[in-house]
Formats: sequence, structure tokens, C-alpha cells
Amino acid sequence: MKKIIVTGATGQIGTDLVDRLIKDYGDDNVLACSRRARPEDWAGSHYESLDVTDSKRFFELTKDFGADTILHLAAVLSAVGEDNPQLLWDINVNGLYNSLEIARELDLALFVPSSIGAFGPGTPAVNTPQTTIQRPTTAYGVSKVAGELLCDYYNKRFGIDTRGVRFPGLISYKALPGGGTTDYAVHIYYDALEKGHYTSFIDKGTFMDMMYMPDAVDSIIDLMEADPSKLKDRNAFNVSGMSFDPEELKRSIQKYMPDFTMDYDVDPVRQAIADSWPDSLDVSAAREQWGFNPKYDLDAMTKDMLEKLKK
Ligand code: SER
Repeated sequence: MKKIIVTGATGQIGTDLVDRLIKDYGDDNVLACSRRARPEDWAGSHYESLDVTDSKRFFELTKDFGADTILHLAAVLSAVGEDNPQLLWDINVNGLYNSLEIARELDLALFVPSSIGAFGPGTPAVNTPQTTIQRPTTAYGVSKVAGELLCDYYNKRFGIDTRGVRFPGLISYKALPGGGTTDYAVHIYYDALEKGHYTSFIDKGTFMDMMYMPDAVDSIIDLMEADPSKLKDRNAFNVSGMSFDPEELKRSIQKYMPDFTMDYDVDPVRQAIADSWPDSLDVSAAREQWGFNPKYDLDAMTKDMLEKLKK
């Protein structure tokens, strides 16, 4: 990667990723795009408003910037997608199709995140293999499987350098996630500090894969810088830093805040989504093919989240 355009740049991943790209690749080599107007405190010099379903503007911005890589993060998350599957399809699939066509026309590398949401109730839930049954039951999951297959197709058919990971729930303190199922694991830290208490919309005993944002950002950069001849799987690699349920997360917070309490008010929609997803992923393909090596476990993440959010 030398010259990078990032879509969805003001989202949960984009906010952290763009900061890091500017440090590693230089401010002049990173163009951040988002549907929102430029945030007042945006650090980078290059920022454009972009709706990724507007293929003409997307193409022109990418070409004019001279990008060699698209990091395509613009997407609707799982819970919002169940409220508005039509919007989800338009942004997640038509937006990705525009990225793929631009990558094909301009011969660019393309990163697209898939998700644990690309799995469904028929998938083996524990140590979920890299290649396995994918019959998701959410609009989000259907869009992610379609995306994985489209990326594979563009790689095989047109030789486009498409790469991707299946992200688990991502936990971070710079920007909030925008309406997913794993969001409880972010909100809990805010409420712990503000109220000393959290009411979880996900039930105890519900295990899901999670990862701390610094490991997620590393995984994007490491995968994009990996030697392509080593990549047997492309779209998309299982990645995860940890797997826990709300009770384990509560106990981790109590190690640093002994008075923290939690109760439950389960949201049936998001609980059903969580129940359809794996408990824990097998990440061995990512480790073997490009050296995926997350650094944060649950307690290390909790310590850092509480310290950073306090500031
Ligand atoms: N964090 C996402 C969601 O909950 C999963 O990829 O929708």
C-alpha cells in the first residue's frame, strides 16, 4: 500500500484506522471518505464526503487521488440491517460492487471486512473452521457472504488483489459502533465509568468472538502488506482476539472496578442474531498465511479501555 482511499472513514474502524495510516504512510497518502461532512476535529488533510452507492463520484475521487488501494469500510451493521434490509443491501452490496468495479478498472488492491455474521445457525459454533457452512439468517450475514463470494470471483476472474477478514465484535474508545449486535461489549465500558452499572441487551451465557481495535487495525495493515503468494484463502480470514459472554466481561471490569454491577434486559432481535453466530473462531489460517497475532486478551483490553475512556 502506498496511496490509500478509505471509505466509511468516520465509522468505528475507520476513525482508528485513518489515524494509524496517516502515521505509517503519511498524511498526503491517505484520503478519508465518509457520507458525513468533514468532522471539525478531523486530523487528516484529505477528506471527502462520499456516498459509496454514487459510483461516478467514487470512481473520480479514487482516480484523482491516484490511489493504489481501497480500504472499503462503508457498511450497515447487523441490528440496523434488520430494521432496514433494503438500505443494508444497497450500501453493503451495491457499495461493494462499486468498489470492485473501480478496483478492476484502475487495477487497485481492495480490502473489505467480512464478519462473524457471515456464519449462521448451521455453522459449527465452537472453533469454527475457516471453510465451513455459511447459511446466515440475517440481512447483514447474507450481504457479507455475497461480499466474500464477489471478492473471490473478482480475484479469480479478473486477477484483482482482493483481501478480507471476518471481524468479530470490535471494541474501541475513539468512535462508537453504529448499531451492531456486539455493541454491548463497547457500551458496557462507558456505563461502567458513568454509572457504575450496565444493563445488558445480550444474555448471560452468550459467547461471541471479540477483538480490541489496535489488533483489528494491525490485522488490516498486516494482511494488506502480506506476500500475496502466501495467501491461499482471500475472502475472508477468520480473526479473533478472545471469546467471552457478558458475565466474563463483567468479572473482568470488576477486577478494576470492584463495585461495578450488571443486570439484564435482553433485546430479542439482537439476542436471536447473537444466538445464530459462532461462539469462537479457529484463526489458524490467518496465523499461518500472514502471521496474524493479536496482542490483547480480555483483561489487558479492559485495563486499557478503562484508562483511555477515563481520559
Ligand atoms: N460487530 C458487528 C455487528 O454486531 C459484527 O460484525 O453487527
